[in-house]
Amino acid sequence: MTAAAHTHLVYASFFLDASSGTRCSFISNSGPRHSVMAASAPSTYTKLPECLMNGGLHTSLTNIVQNGHSSMNDEVQNGHSSLNEVQNGYSSLQNCTKTESSFDEGEAMLKLVLDLVLKTKLVTGMSTSEKVVNFKHPKELKEVLLVGVERSGCSLEEVEEVLQQVVHYSVKTQHPYFYNQLYGGIDEVALAGAWVTEALNTNQYTYEVAPVFILVEDYVISQLTNIFGYSNGDGIFAPGGSMSNMYAMVMARYKKYPDVKRTGVFGLKPLVAFSSDQGHYSVSKSASWLGLGMDNVVSVASDSEGRMKPEALVEAVARARARGCEPFFVNATAGTTVLGAYDPFHQLADVCAQEDLWLNVDVST
Ligand SMILES: Cc1ncc(COP(=O)(O)O)c(C=O)c1O
Repeated sequence: MTAAAHTHLVYASFFLDASSGTRCSFISNSGPRHSVMAASAPSTYTKLPECLMNGGLHTSLTNIVQNGHSSMNDEVQNGHSSLNEVQNGYSSLQNCTKTESSFDEGEAMLKLVLDLVLKTKLVTGMSTSEKVVNFKHPKELKEVLLVGVERSGCSLEEVEEVLQQVVHYSVKTQHPYFYNQLYGGIDEVALAGAWVTEALNTNQYTYEVAPVFILVEDYVISQLTNIFGYSNGDGIFAPGGSMSNMYAMVMARYKKYPDVKRTGVFGLKPLVAFSSDQGHYSVSKSASWLGLGMDNVVSVASDSEGRMKPEALVEAVARARARGCEPFFVNATAGTTVLGAYDPFHQLADVCAQEDLWLNVDVST
């Protein structure tokens, strides 16, 4: 079983030990877009389902991204050799920051940031007389915004001016009149955690490099899996809903065909996923990324309130089997993107149990 949840600081996917035999995932996609990835990689590989273990998803994802990145670089570099210079400049900057501060007034700048956040009430207490956004057309904004990379650097006063601009022209998601279903807001505790996380600037590779965060990660995951009633659950932090849904699809595919990690999908019947006509497009994106093909995500009819019709699912599964395909994954949604509909999970779970399908619940608030 898999489950996912979100806090102020992180997106996360949580799942039960795959060996439990349960076939369901629960993917949460709520909260602010700018979540701080306090934990971005699985720390406890040994406890994770085989398909997500080292050499599995994490590695292959990294490879895809890295391969894509390097071939992109090749193309970009052919046309723009100056990229190399930027890269060289960047690495020498990195070397320099390792030994000495690159900005003499660093401490003053940090105080200035804190001051700005408090003074402009970026976390709580923003007045409704402020605008949610001081909107400017991109062309106009480009003209006033102090953005640039220069050799000479800038003074603390100039930094302050830039920071004020950043705040002034940004959307204030904490404003009492800011309404959007995808934001969970910010508070002092979350921001403090984010700042400390950034200042420590570590990662989640191993216990050796992140002893505290690994324990925090373990704790958060176990708390969340417990909420869903699973005492032997495990999880993985994910950078958003699309990635969570893709993790779920990877696990479902692995459950059906454990060899797929080695063999790929060659020689298999086309694997087919199902999502309602209100489901998020990230399910199709996942099918595309996993080499299953977007055409193999079947759109299942929903009722007048946007909930997937279980009988339509049964029919769609039968039709897929009749044309020689292998149904493997059903995506249900708890809070569809447009209507906020909740699919009938119990009925869908019954269909999935009968048809031997993995049920994923994509949660969005
Ligand atoms: C129901 C649902 N699932 C998945 C997603 C994708 O989330 P993300 O943009 O974080 O990848 C969204 C985003 O709006 C959504 O509403």
